[in-house]
Amino acid sequence: MRIVVRKPGVFSSVAIALTAIVAAVVMTAAVATAQKAPTAQAQVTFTNDVAPILYRSCIRCHRPGEIAPMSLLTYNDARPWARAIKQRVSRREMPPWFIDRTIGIQSYKNDPSLTDDEIATIVKWVDAGAPQGNPADLPPLPPQGDVNAWRIGTPDLVVKYPTYKMPATGPDLYGSLYVPFDTKEDRYIKAIQTRVIDQGSRKVVHHALSYAVSPDADAQSDGDDSTSQGGQFLVEYASGKNAEIYPPDSGVLLQAGQKAKVDYHFHSIGEETNVQIEVGVVFYPKGTVPKHIRWSKQLGQEAAADIDIPANSIVRRDGYTRLNSPARLTAFQPHFHIRGKYQCLELIYPGEPVKTETVSCANWNYNWHTIYNYEDSVAPIVPAGTLLHVITWWDNTPGNKFNPDPKNWVGAGTGRTIDEMGFSWIGWYDLTDEEYKQELQARKAARQPKKIATDQQQQ
Ligand code: HEC
Repeated sequence: MRIVVRKPGVFSSVAIALTAIVAAVVMTAAVATAQKAPTAQAQVTFTNDVAPILYRSCIRCHRPGEIAPMSLLTYNDARPWARAIKQRVSRREMPPWFIDRTIGIQSYKNDPSLTDDEIATIVKWVDAGAPQGNPADLPPLPPQGDVNAWRIGTPDLVVKYPTYKMPATGPDLYGSLYVPFDTKEDRYIKAIQTRVIDQGSRKVVHHALSYAVSPDADAQSDGDDSTSQGGQFLVEYASGKNAEIYPPDSGVLLQAGQKAKVDYHFHSIGEETNVQIEVGVVFYPKGTVPKHIRWSKQLGQEAAADIDIPANSIVRRDGYTRLNSPARLTAFQPHFHIRGKYQCLELIYPGEPVKTETVSCANWNYNWHTIYNYEDSVAPIVPAGTLLHVITWWDNTPGNKFNPDPKNWVGAGTGRTIDEMGFSWIGWYDLTDEEYKQELQARKAARQPKKIATDQQQQ
């Protein structure tokens, strides 16, 4: 075994070098033992070990009719993909989930990511030749709902965007489509979902973000309005996620007469495809105003408005938004184009001395627009006057595998992928001072027993 120390300056400590050698020896010994005595129980099999991981983290997308290219429902489906599975999971490219695991909050709703142990299990399985194991051990396949079923219940209103004819070949296309909602009074949305009607077009739709916009917005005023004229962001269709069921007692206002706008990104799939996207909405009853209005805004974008990214360089920008009331943050979602690298959300609390807290950081993978919804028990609860500090990095070097041309300068622009943007979708709802106090109390109470236990252990 050869130990390569790339940067002698950094690894100058003998202790570190020794530790590395000891670790290497131990590892070699462990491998040797494993190879010498593989017992029947120690063998990792599909039916015993791998299927439960795929059921939890993969088959939502990897099943017939869904967005992924192949099914992973059964052993026969998964077997031919074993090597690719090993590669994608060990690089943490699959399932798509790019939260930095070393910093900030780690509990998110619907986090499909694998633990280090689960990744090790898959790697072992593939290295052992991807054995099936005893079919009797296979856990029952979780019930698979109809891929076309509404996940929000039966919508009160469904609007269809105009059909888009996507050519068989050509570059990716970006743009906006509009359709009136035709509501005669203000209504609050309880749940909303985007559906791509025809399964064939699901592979065409890279993402589709829907907004409520003013009645006179239309294709003529299009261009970069996903950010500047904005409108109220409603729901996103991407990365296998397409429904938004707001937390109890919270909702989003749809004003009378507003139109629906979808910002799309489509790719060609080798045959001409009619893409047909619809949005379904479940409302609160007429006249009902939910206790909390859920906001979802693009924050930190002012910092990226005039970005100037020289060739071969990494650039950082910072954006700040002050919250005027106490709030509960519900979601973090970085957004970039292809030079995006990494983004963090830091909270700067009011008062002296200044306290800050980094709540989430995520790597950027241009293929995925992943939203990170905080688990209720850890969703940040912040006082009035808190600054949301969005820190954004772009990578215009060859180190960014999505970068088509690190020799070129890159500037700001929202429409074309080759221009850059960078902001964070932040979801939150405002709290009254009273609610803020109550939430804090509840958090403290929930933490109490654990704290006592730790104190006792330390004594
Ligand atoms: C959110 C949806 C989603 C989830 C969850 C997901 N995948 Fe995927 N997967 C995709 C899509 C879409 C592609 C095709 C695009 C790409 O290659 O990134 C893909 C591609 C792949 C590929 C490459 C296929 C090829 O053509 O080489 C492998 C292997 C894979 N996924 C394995 C997995 C495994 C294993 C899991 C669970 C641990 C998983 N995926 C979870 C959507 C998903």
